[in-house]
Amino acid sequence: MNIVLFGPPGSGKGTQAIKLAEKYEIPHVSTGDILRENLKRQTALGLEAKKYMDRGELVPDGVLIGIIKDRLAQPDCDSGCIFDGYPRTIPQAEVLETILNELGKTLDVVVNIEVPDVEVLKRISGRRMCACGASYHILFNRPEQEGICDLCGCKLYQREDDKETAVLNRLAVYKKQSQPLIEYYRQKGVLVTVDGTAEIQAVFDEISAALDTVPAT
Ligand code: AP5
Ligand code: MG
Repeated sequence: MNIVLFGPPGSGKGTQAIKLAEKYEIPHVSTGDILRENLKRQTALGLEAKKYMDRGELVPDGVLIGIIKDRLAQPDCDSGCIFDGYPRTIPQAEVLETILNELGKTLDVVVNIEVPDVEVLKRISGRRMCACGASYHILFNRPEQEGICDLCGCKLYQREDDKETAVLNRLAVYKKQSQPLIEYYRQKGVLVTVDGTAEIQAVFDEISAALDTVPAT
């Protein structure tokens, strides 16, 4: 099953993707995590992406296409994957469709996680991240040991683009460049919308219930 998790920054895409990847035993493909990992290794791609990410702008589509193509060609994606943060523009959605078609696959469902701006700002200001992709919150989703990831034991950090000006820009960019995808996917008949303001487990249960009705491909 190929699933896209869609929603504004801070809507819980990463949080839900990790849980869904475990339940459905398919990989979690986060373009944000891949870019951050490249930045950590100081690759040319990571350094190029940083210029956009720190300002809360989208990294140019051309950079993302190579990442997605390479990732989907890996054997662990054979039975599908969970896309988190891709696609974010209509051209990216068209590219994804072409790549999946070339591999004889289809996009089964797009989960649109709805969360209002005021909640996004509360969530992002208290977020703490791990390099493994896990995301915590100082009030809403605390790790067992303060500052340490429950999953891998690494030290948590605050993302550079979680500063207020970058977050406000990410929200504006989401509205302008990403939100049109909601109508795009609704017209394709693959859109499911969930209330992302509920507790993490309740959101997970709602997404799982929706995915369990999707016919296997
Ligand atoms: P990316 O890393 O994808 O960031 P984003 O879309 O802004 O989303 P976030 O990761 O901020 O939020 P999330 O929805 O994953 O929420 P989370 O689960 O962490 O992209 C970063 C940058 O990379 C972009 O700005 C762009 O520059 C570039 N980029 C990436 N992909 C790209 C693409 N395709 N094209 C171009 N550029 C691209 O949760 C947030 C917080 O809330 C956490 O603290 C969490 O613990 C808490 N939380 C989660 N769920 C709940 C809940 N139900 N109740 C209470 N708290 C909750
Ligand atoms: Mg994320």
